[in-house]
Amino acid sequence: MEIKVQPKLIIHGGAGSSLKGKGGVEAVRRSLYPIIEEVYSLLESGTNAKEAVLRGCQMLEDDPCFNAGTGSVLQSDGQIRMSASVMDGTSQSFSGVINVSRVKNPIDLAIALQSSPDRVLSDYGAAELARELQIPTYNGLTELRLQEWIQERQDNFKRTMAGVVAEAELVEASNARRGTIGVVALDTEGKLAVGTSTGGKGFERIGRVSDSAMPAGNYATKYAAVSCTGIGEDIIDECLAVRVVIRVTDGLSLKEAMQRSFTEAQEHKRDFGAIALDASGAIAWGKTSEALLAAYHNGDKIGDTLEIPMGTEVGCIFSAESSV
Ligand code: GLY
Repeated sequence: MEIKVQPKLIIHGGAGSSLKGKGGVEAVRRSLYPIIEEVYSLLESGTNAKEAVLRGCQMLEDDPCFNAGTGSVLQSDGQIRMSASVMDGTSQSFSGVINVSRVKNPIDLAIALQSSPDRVLSDYGAAELARELQIPTYNGLTELRLQEWIQERQDNFKRTMAGVVAEAELVEASNARRGTIGVVALDTEGKLAVGTSTGGKGFERIGRVSDSAMPAGNYATKYAAVSCTGIGEDIIDECLAVRVVIRVTDGLSLKEAMQRSFTEAQEHKRDFGAIALDASGAIAWGKTSEALLAAYHNGDKIGDTLEIPMGTEVGCIFSAESSV
């Protein structure tokens, strides 16, 4: 098959404080790299960006290491409520679900709503959609997340939870509240799409709405697409995904848009990260948090952000060869 545009792909499994030691880094690579390989080969074989994003998000949601789908954290009342959204850069249409329970892949509901006149549904509406689509009920609770919640309750909710990766020995306790998954894809037609999914912050009030089902956390035009992770309230305050995408849409390079947006985020003491692609194939990531769990395929090989030193806020990969 003739490839018109070299596909590009970047995914993330959250942000947080530094992963402890090599074991942590390698464990995260073992989760992220097979997903990059499978989704990138789909893109190479002509799968469109939105379908590739769907598959990538499903795989990340199914990995209990990440705070989305299976392995989602529990809210203050001990329940799992998940949020997810998709944006197609070509049609510039956003769709999503907020605080949905008892489904395996919230991203499936977000995708189903792409063709609906009502494109963002919350709890009861999302549950009704799952019933209409005959999606079987599913319990994404894992033993580790339950134990985390019980421990927090015993400590009278003093400590934080929702480690960015659900393996206690891999992460610092302060990794709380930043877990999310996201996928950004550029297909062989040069079309962009993005998807983001989360179990939320952990221990949040019932009804708290995550950035992951808002344009602040997940946004695309035909020029650029961005998925965010980190403290949802910080992402909303910066309207981060929209801020970066609109800057590119208005003519800034992706690198300039990310640099400007993350400089502002540092000034505002925000705690988050983001991954991005533009229509020219530039790949970018940014973080104010210590660690960003992202991996990408640049058309030549897989790379990641797992060992980026502290103080490096933004990275941009322009082609198979160069990175800045
Ligand atoms: N960024 C995920 C959340 O705060 O819900």
